[in-house]
Amino acid sequence: MQIKQLETVVGLPLFEQIGKKIYLTDAGREMQAYARRLAQLLGELEEVMEGFKGVRRGRLAVSVVTTANHFATRILADFASRYSGLSLRLDVTNRESLLRQLQRNECDLVIMGQPPEAEGLAAEAFLPNPLVVIAHASHPLASMRQIPLARLADETLLIRELGSGTRGAALRFFKSNAIRINLGMELRSSEAIKQAVEAGLGIAVVSLHTLELELAAQRIAVLDVEGFPIERHWYLVQNKDKRLAPAAKAFRDFVIKYAEHHGRLPELSP
Ligand code: PGA
Repeated sequence: MQIKQLETVVGLPLFEQIGKKIYLTDAGREMQAYARRLAQLLGELEEVMEGFKGVRRGRLAVSVVTTANHFATRILADFASRYSGLSLRLDVTNRESLLRQLQRNECDLVIMGQPPEAEGLAAEAFLPNPLVVIAHASHPLASMRQIPLARLADETLLIRELGSGTRGAALRFFKSNAIRINLGMELRSSEAIKQAVEAGLGIAVVSLHTLELELAAQRIAVLDVEGFPIERHWYLVQNKDKRLAPAAKAFRDFVIKYAEHHGRLPELSP
C-alpha cells in the first residue's frame, strides 16, 4: 500500500513485476538512491542533536558478540551506574549479524573479534581473547600434557553456529594445520557449548573469558593442546565515518580503561 501511495505521489511506476519477481524501474532506482542519502542525513542529524545533550542525557546503542556478553554486560552496568540519565541499548548477537548492524548504522559501537579489513570500519584492540580447547573434567585428555594437535582428530568437536567468530577462528586454525576434525553438534552460544561439553557430548574451542565459573567449579578442563591457545583479541569497532556522540565517546574510553584495570582472564591450573 505504501508503495502504491508513493507511486501515486511521484506519478511514476517505481516497481515492475516480471513473472513472480519484482524489479525496480529506472525511476525506482533513483528514488532508492535518494532515499538512502536522506536516511543517512537523518541519522547524522540525530547524532549531532545527541551531541548537544552531552553524556548524561544522551543515548548509547552498543552491540556485542555473544561470547563477549560475559564481560560486556559487566562493563555496561558499571558505566550505566555512573551516568544514570543515559538511555542505553545493548544487543547480543553473533559476528555476522553485528557486521550487518554496522553496515546499516544501527548501533554506535560494537565489541567483537577482529573485524574484516576494508569494510569502512575503525577497530581498536583492547583485550586479549585466547581461544582454548575444553573437555569434561573427567575426560581422559584432561590429565595429559602437551597433547599433539593431531590427537584431536579422534575426538568429536562441538561447534558454534555459522556466522560465529569463534567457529570461524577454530575452523581456520584446524584447516591451516591440516587437521581433519570430526564435527559434532552445532550450538548457538558458548553457554550451550559448555553445557554440552559438561554432558560429555564432545570437546570444543571457546574463549577463555567464558570459563570463569566452570573452571572454579572444576566442571570443565582446559586441555593442554599443541598450538593452543589461539591468540585473538577483543576489538571496539565503529563505522569510520561515524561521528560518535559524547555518550559513545565516553563509553569507548571507559571500556579501554576498564580492560586495563579489570581485564584479568580466569586462571588456568599449571
Ligand atoms: P562469536 O564471537 O560469539 O560470534 O563467536 C566471537 C568473535 O567474534 O571472536
